[in-house]
Amino acid sequence: MTRILEPTHENLRICASTLAAGGLVAFPTETVYGLGADARNGLAVARIFEAKGRPRFNPLITHAANIGTALGLAEFSPEAKKIAEAFWPGPLTLVVQRKSDDPLSDLVTAGLDTVAIRVPDNAAAHALLVAFGAPIAAPSANRSGHVSPTSANHVADDLTGKVDLILDGGSCRYGLESTILDLTGTTPVLLRAGAITREAIEDATGCRISLADTNTSHKPQQPTAPGQLASHYAPNAAIRLDAVDCRNGEALLAFGPRVPATQGRAMNLSPTGDLREAAANLFAHLRELDRAGSSTIAVMPIPAHGLGQAINDRLQRAAAPRPPKK
Ligand code: TXA
Ligand code: MG
Repeated sequence: MTRILEPTHENLRICASTLAAGGLVAFPTETVYGLGADARNGLAVARIFEAKGRPRFNPLITHAANIGTALGLAEFSPEAKKIAEAFWPGPLTLVVQRKSDDPLSDLVTAGLDTVAIRVPDNAAAHALLVAFGAPIAAPSANRSGHVSPTSANHVADDLTGKVDLILDGGSCRYGLESTILDLTGTTPVLLRAGAITREAIEDATGCRISLADTNTSHKPQQPTAPGQLASHYAPNAAIRLDAVDCRNGEALLAFGPRVPATQGRAMNLSPTGDLREAAANLFAHLRELDRAGSSTIAVMPIPAHGLGQAINDRLQRAAAPRPPKK
C-alpha cells in the first residue's frame, strides 16, 4: 500500500530506508513531485519505469543534496561549475559527462555517457537527500502521458499502489519542470525550457545559450519529447533480434533459463526471466558485449509485457539502421 507521510524527522528516516531497500518514494521539489529511487540501484530504477508505465527508457534526472555532492558525481568544466554555482540549489538541470567510476546505474542515464543532475531547492527534498545520503534518480511522479504532479494528492491519484511512499511537502512552488541545459558540447544548449529562463541564465553567467533545435538534426517544428533530444546510446555491434541460436562469431545477449549453446561471449539479462532484472542489466550488458568486439550481438526474444515493452523498444532502435556518426 502507498502511504502519504509528512516530512517529520522520523518519516524522513522511513523514506530513506525505503529507498535504501530499493523502494520507490515520491517526493516534492520546487518544480514538480519526483518519483524517486536509489540512483545506484538498477533494480530500483527499473521500478520507476514500471510504475510510470513508460514504454521507453528515457534518461532520468539525478538529484543531489547540495552543490558539493553534485559536483563530485560527474565531470564539470569550469563553465559548468560557474552555471551550477549561480543556480543551485534551484530548478536548473545540467547535462554533463559521466565519470567512468561513478556509482550511478546505467539505467539512470539510459546507457549514455552523460548524466542530468540537479540540486533541488525544496526543504523536504533536501532533507530526504540528506537522510538518504546518496543520489536519487527521479522523473516527474506521474503515469506516462499524464501531467506532472504538483501535490501529494496528484501523485496518489496517479501512482497509488505503484509507489511505496509519498512524502508530502505541500504544493510545488514553480509547478513547472526544471530547465535542462546540455553542457557537453562547445556551447550550452537548451534541451528543455522550464522554471528558469534562458535569458536569466545568460544574464547571470555571461554564457550564450543556443536552442536545441538549431543544434540537432531534429526537425524544428516537431514537438520533441525531451528524452528524444538526447542522442541515444547505440552499440557499435550490429544487433540481431529474436535470436533462438547463436551463430559463429556472434556474442549472445540471453534472457531466461534456456540458453542456446555459444562459442563467443554470452551474458544473460536475467537467468530467471525477471523483466525488472533484465531492465537493470540492459545497458551494462550491451556495453560489455560491445566492448568484447563481436560484430553482431544476437539477442534472445524478450516478452512484450510490462518492462519488456521498454526493453524491446530500446533493442529495436539499437537494431535499426543508424545514421552515420557526426
Ligand atoms: O523538474 C524536474 O526536472 C523534475 C523534478 C522531479 O526534478 N524531473 C523531471 O524529470 O522532469 P523527467 O524524467 O520527467 O525529465 C527528465 C528529462 C528527460 O526526458 C531527458 O530529456 C532529460 O531529462 N535528460 C536526462 N538525462 C539526460 C541526458 N544524459 N542527456 C540529455 N537529456 C537528458
Ligand atoms: Mg515528466
